[in-house]
Amino acid sequence: MCGIIGYIGKRDAFPIVIKGLERMEYRGYDSAGVAILDGSLHVFKKKGKVADLYNFAKDSAPHGSIGIGHTRWATHGIPNDVNAHPHLSESGKIAIIHNGIIENYAVLKDALLHAGHTFKSETDTEVLVHLIETIKEKDTLSLFAAVQQALTQVVGAYGIVVMDETDPDTLVCARKGSPLVLGIGNEEFFIASDASPIVEYTKKVVYLENDQIAELKRNGEYKIETISGTPHTPFVEELTMEAEAIGKEGYDHYMQKEIFEQATTIHDALRGHILPDLSVHLRGVEEMIASFNGARRLIITACGTSWIAGLVGEYFIENLARIPVEVEYASEFRYRNPVLDERDIVIAISQSGETADTLAALELAKARGAKTYGIVNAVGSSIARMTDAGSYMHVGPEIGVASTKAFTGATIVLALLALLLAKDRSTLDDSAYEQLVTSLEKIDAQIADVLATEKQIIEIAERIKDKDNALFLGRGILFPVALEGALKLKEISYIHAEGYPAGEMKHGPIALVEADFPVVVVATNKELLEKVISNVQEVKARGALTIGIVREGDTEAKKIFDYTIEAPNSEELWMPILSVIPLQLLAYHVAVLRGLDVDKPRNLAKSVTVE
Ligand code: F6R
Repeated sequence: MCGIIGYIGKRDAFPIVIKGLERMEYRGYDSAGVAILDGSLHVFKKKGKVADLYNFAKDSAPHGSIGIGHTRWATHGIPNDVNAHPHLSESGKIAIIHNGIIENYAVLKDALLHAGHTFKSETDTEVLVHLIETIKEKDTLSLFAAVQQALTQVVGAYGIVVMDETDPDTLVCARKGSPLVLGIGNEEFFIASDASPIVEYTKKVVYLENDQIAELKRNGEYKIETISGTPHTPFVEELTMEAEAIGKEGYDHYMQKEIFEQATTIHDALRGHILPDLSVHLRGVEEMIASFNGARRLIITACGTSWIAGLVGEYFIENLARIPVEVEYASEFRYRNPVLDERDIVIAISQSGETADTLAALELAKARGAKTYGIVNAVGSSIARMTDAGSYMHVGPEIGVASTKAFTGATIVLALLALLLAKDRSTLDDSAYEQLVTSLEKIDAQIADVLATEKQIIEIAERIKDKDNALFLGRGILFPVALEGALKLKEISYIHAEGYPAGEMKHGPIALVEADFPVVVVATNKELLEKVISNVQEVKARGALTIGIVREGDTEAKKIFDYTIEAPNSEELWMPILSVIPLQLLAYHVAVLRGLDVDKPRNLAKSVTVE
């Protein structure tokens, strides 16, 4: 949700800032802007994508070696050139970029308006930079001290970078809520919302903590303090990410690349976790195994696709380890005063590790004394750092806005968690356990077979690309897969799609079905299959166009549907992993056929750091 980048050093800042914005464009893409300091401030802002900004600024951008840039996902004020960041102070000498929301901006703005300030944009951010300048001038403070003081008056969330024409050797940045990573080079600094724009320049990073502010000097010196002024000794970490992992590698879209790399990412997610004696090793769980065993229940909290992965996890854990599990939307959980105490474990699932709602749910869990566990992809992210223990998905950077490999990555971690707990609690007999573990180990190899169905999937995509609505059905552990198929289709193709438990369909949604209405059915179960088939008959009888994801070799199921895609056979519990991939591909191809920007669907952003 908004990507921000700053550079100070000896290189030309403009290309570094633009490239950084391109890397972070998945965080927001309704407008973008840069400010380069070269004697005076040069600001370029444009509604649209980073490419539009680049074309607008490339011929006139100066060669200054200090600069900031922003790619926006609008919160306050419509996406246009004026509301794009950077924003300037009253004198035009201080520039700011901001990711987050200043909740008390209206009060601050009123006071500044009374003092004679004029504002150009409708944003909360512009208010903050005016406040910084007022404080700086009133008490003749350094930029660092003025930002620090201004932030004591701010309620809300922020990741900011500030640059001052009168102090061309300094960048100041601060965070509360919204993430910031500081890259430490040789007498140069990079500051960004995530490590992707930094990794090609330096692997030495400091993750700024909440309520911290940093001053970065052109001579390579830097300091970090809390907003209230306590000095902080930075912890410099080594990035493990490689710059190559962030390219498209010949694919047309990141989403396509990320769907196709799932054989590898699932392999990576499993790697090292199943030992030769078939025991499952997850360090984070082992660290708090006593808590898991003594837990009254597990509460999985997450948003969007990660929440859907949580529903699959509920089946795994309840079936195998016999611990009660609840799955909660993070954005709802925190506002309904849940019954929660130290007997509960709250498991947060998040690709980005920065989702504001999930972070807030974890804060609530901690405040109530519950233990917390994170299943996170982005290494070093806020959720990874704030949970008591956790496991990384290890699926590499996910850049396509629609989550794909993180869904299967999270599902693998949940499967491992369930198996480990089942073994430890003796809730599964040895042969069932061995069968489940050995088939899970094979799943990465089976992905290639699923991906080989792409040609048939394109044919189906052609058939449904002009539809306005679709229904996705599944039963049992495949119901979440139906939800995920519908979410993928609607978010990137803008076709309205609903995921529904197949058995519930007759209680309402069946009213929607008419001739040629697309109904996609995840029918890869063995248990409940007959019932699912009856549900298919019900929609067929009303003229629906039926598309089935079926088990390889299931000739009976194949006869019923208008179109089928086969998924390789595995254990019933692992079928969601193999069944979701055709639905990811279906959504992808429908969106491509509709001529849409798959990696940057309208109104969405990859990392949702506002509530
Ligand atoms: C859907 C999608 C979103 C995210 C959700 C949570 O394709 O990407 O629904 O799953 O915003 O994000 P994370 O997992 O980063 O917490």
